[in-house]
Amino acid sequence: MINDLWYKNAVIYCLSVGTYEDANGDGVGDFAGLMLRLDYLSGLGVTAIWLMPFQTSPGRDDGYDVSNYYEVDPRYGTLGDFVEFTHAATQRGIRVLIDLVVNHTSDQHAWFKEARRDPKSRFRDWYVWAKTRPPDANKGMVFPGVQKSTWNYDPVARAWYFHRFYEFQPDLNTSNPEVQAEILKIMGFWLQLGVSGFRMDAVPFVIATKGAQVRKPVEQYDMLRPMREFLQWREGDAIILAEANVLPGTDMQYFGLAGERMNMMFNFQANQNLFYALVASDARPLQKALLATKPRPKTAQWGIFLRNHDELDLGRLTEKQRQVVFRAFGPKPAMQLYHRGIRRRLAPMLGGDRRRIELAYSLMFTLPGTPVIRYGDELGMGDDLTLPERQCARTPMQWSEEPHGGFTKNAKPIVPVIDTGVFGYQHVNAAQQRRDPNSMLNWTERIIRMRKEVPEVGWGDFEIVKTPDVAVLAIRYDWRDNSVFFVHNLAATPREVLLSVGLAASRSDVLVNLLSDNHSRPEANGKHRLMLEAYGYRWFRVGGLDYLLVRSDVESDTPTRAVPRRKKSRRNDD
Ligand code: NOJ
Repeated sequence: MINDLWYKNAVIYCLSVGTYEDANGDGVGDFAGLMLRLDYLSGLGVTAIWLMPFQTSPGRDDGYDVSNYYEVDPRYGTLGDFVEFTHAATQRGIRVLIDLVVNHTSDQHAWFKEARRDPKSRFRDWYVWAKTRPPDANKGMVFPGVQKSTWNYDPVARAWYFHRFYEFQPDLNTSNPEVQAEILKIMGFWLQLGVSGFRMDAVPFVIATKGAQVRKPVEQYDMLRPMREFLQWREGDAIILAEANVLPGTDMQYFGLAGERMNMMFNFQANQNLFYALVASDARPLQKALLATKPRPKTAQWGIFLRNHDELDLGRLTEKQRQVVFRAFGPKPAMQLYHRGIRRRLAPMLGGDRRRIELAYSLMFTLPGTPVIRYGDELGMGDDLTLPERQCARTPMQWSEEPHGGFTKNAKPIVPVIDTGVFGYQHVNAAQQRRDPNSMLNWTERIIRMRKEVPEVGWGDFEIVKTPDVAVLAIRYDWRDNSVFFVHNLAATPREVLLSVGLAASRSDVLVNLLSDNHSRPEANGKHRLMLEAYGYRWFRVGGLDYLLVRSDVESDTPTRAVPRRKKSRRNDD
């Protein structure tokens, strides 16, 4: 296995350029501003930034309605600024991933305009048309309650066009080889400008069969292979991180049996069950989700996240489980969205309870995969439920106590900064938290540092260790003769558990606590007695602190131990 697959253990941080930092004072965040904050990100320890769409767009779906794939939206800067930014990020050892939104375009894209206007245009077949209203036009909406249909009549084209998302996002006919070639061209363009890959939007829909005759879309998985081949040919270490909220049974189709399709996928299964587990103080559904998503090619990786820029989608839980989460984390209708999710940010959802927020983050950093943080969550930022749909969790970054949280000098920011209540920028901002050793920001920085020192999580095999208490989740990772062990108490009350690490006695003698002084030695029966406070978590290294010296250089079933490096002796035959 190649040692330097960077995404196996990255710390990914996602942000919107438009709401991060406004350098030119026009009220809109820009690349020049983001560049000024690279030192903050580097200090936090992130190793990759995922940028939400920043290409030219009418902005009706926060940039997920692209009207030109080869430009930077002028509000955010120029292509020149973009290249300066990727260069500056690279200089700090930070990679840049960007959104690749190719399931659909904006209805303002020149391709669509041309396709509507002229039935003979080469762009006509780049979209999906029907002469008459397809019978299932009111089915399959992604935004139920807001989106009325998946087919709309266009009076200019005199035909119906298909849109899986909002009506201003006509679907591209992704089965058309010309569209496929254009997708590669878009990828090639941004790779040339310095990105390390893509977060690919809505992958199941990109590869689905589309058309008026299609009753049940079929995923054409192998469409993903040429994309991956092209990517890797143009830039060896670039990756695709797929947004595919699918059932575990199809994961391998997305990764490819030999890892020849998507390098990474977001683990939606773990995400939804994690929230349920937090509410129910019951680790079992989460354990089940982790086991169901365990099979993956060696080179593939999960993206582990808590909240993203969309609603917390609970659509894969049972109705009963979903209602349990709604009641606890989003009881008011205004907190819920699309009949399946919660639109709040993490901190308000957890009642601002620092212990619970840490627990959730500790889980995010230690579940099998690579953590993906959302900007502002490192401060415990809140939401503004007066804003529509998902906008409530997309307010500007809160930098300081200055007006508009230091996000802009303009009187009117593009989106209002949260300025009232306990989550207002006056109380929650980076400047204050930087000075406070116990702040959420400094906690996050420390936990990231420690996460980087437990590469076993990204590289290793995991085993869910039996605990006598359903509220306690214990996971062990083994990699190259090293093991780490994480224990989380999901309950609001303290728990005492007696458990065995599951390794040969000699190797599990001491559990070295990586976050505090309270280490654990086994009792006579070889088991460890752990006292966990309410919402408590433990990060242990199994065995002594000489682990680096015993870490093997290679992975093998019969572990070979690395010999501590000594000066090479000259051999006679040299
Ligand atoms: C998924 C994105 O995460 C979401 O924000 C967007 O609205 C849809 N795809 C459509 O692009």
